[in-house]
Amino acid sequence: MTDQRLNPIGLTPFEDLHEWILAKFSESDIFFGHGTDNAHDEALLLIEHFFNHRFDQSDHLAGVRITKEDFDRISGLIETRCHERLPLAYITKEAWFAGLPFTVDERVIIPRSPIAELIEQGFQPWLLIEPKRVLDLCAGSGCIGIACAMHLGSQVDLVELSPEALALAQQNIQRHQLTASVKAIESDLFANIDGRYDLIVSNPPYVDADDLASMPAEYHHEPVMALAAGTDGLDIARKILTQSADYLTEQGVLVLEVGNSDLALEKAFPSVPFLWLEFARGGHGVCVFTRQELLEHFS
Ligand SMILES: C[S@@+](CC[C@H](N)C(=O)[O-])C[C@H]1O[C@@H](n2cnc3c(N)ncnc32)[C@H](O)[C@@H]1O
Repeated sequence: MTDQRLNPIGLTPFEDLHEWILAKFSESDIFFGHGTDNAHDEALLLIEHFFNHRFDQSDHLAGVRITKEDFDRISGLIETRCHERLPLAYITKEAWFAGLPFTVDERVIIPRSPIAELIEQGFQPWLLIEPKRVLDLCAGSGCIGIACAMHLGSQVDLVELSPEALALAQQNIQRHQLTASVKAIESDLFANIDGRYDLIVSNPPYVDADDLASMPAEYHHEPVMALAAGTDGLDIARKILTQSADYLTEQGVLVLEVGNSDLALEKAFPSVPFLWLEFARGGHGVCVFTRQELLEHFS
């Protein structure tokens, strides 16, 4: 498909538009790691954003009218994605997580934690009780905590150190009409936290110094404080593991993501039998501990 076939005002089948975007993506050296892992899905997301219409693979935008203005706007979006290496979600200002839409921009990382799957499954079989109070530690956009409130009906506290990220989390609380059940708290981990939670769930910064230096350009648009966690990537995770027991109820559970720093964590605590969870939709480096296990291994 050439640009010329799209350029004139006329009828452009959805497949042609999709193929044209795919060709543009494959001519570039963009990296897919922010919500999609391939050009096909990302081109689809771009079209969905442009037409403000979510559709599945079998859904055709047959007979879509592409005006010259549309074409220029789509070309502009592709240009930004390919040349500035800006992740698509920062262009569309939206990301989907656990089946819910979230407003995102450069104040927060783009939601992509595999923890979404655990939320959708009600953290079964790890959680023995219905979680009345949930703490989302290192909340960013608020996606994890807000999804917990929506899927589990819990009262949720979102904790975040960055005031800019917290302002965006607040926007997402309002977007989902959860002001009665979700509270955003500015805090350095547990510093401003009172009481105990049935579930602490955290996707903290966990990128080690080597990975940080070699990440594709897309990641450099995300806030460094959302990614970097010291030489071995464990600066924040260590604190969460040693402090969480004091903020969990008797039957409470900690779910902690450390991604690629899973090996470093095992090395740092060689006597701890880590339970690493598996995910149908991909992802790794998420471990789970009961309060009793935390007391046994980290106090
Ligand atoms: C990896 S991002 C995760 C954001 C969100 N939970 C998600 O899954 O998309 C980590 C977040 O932790 C925040 N953060 C970093 N250090 C923190 C600290 N000491 N206390 C609280 N939040 C912190 C960062 O600002 C960032 O928003």
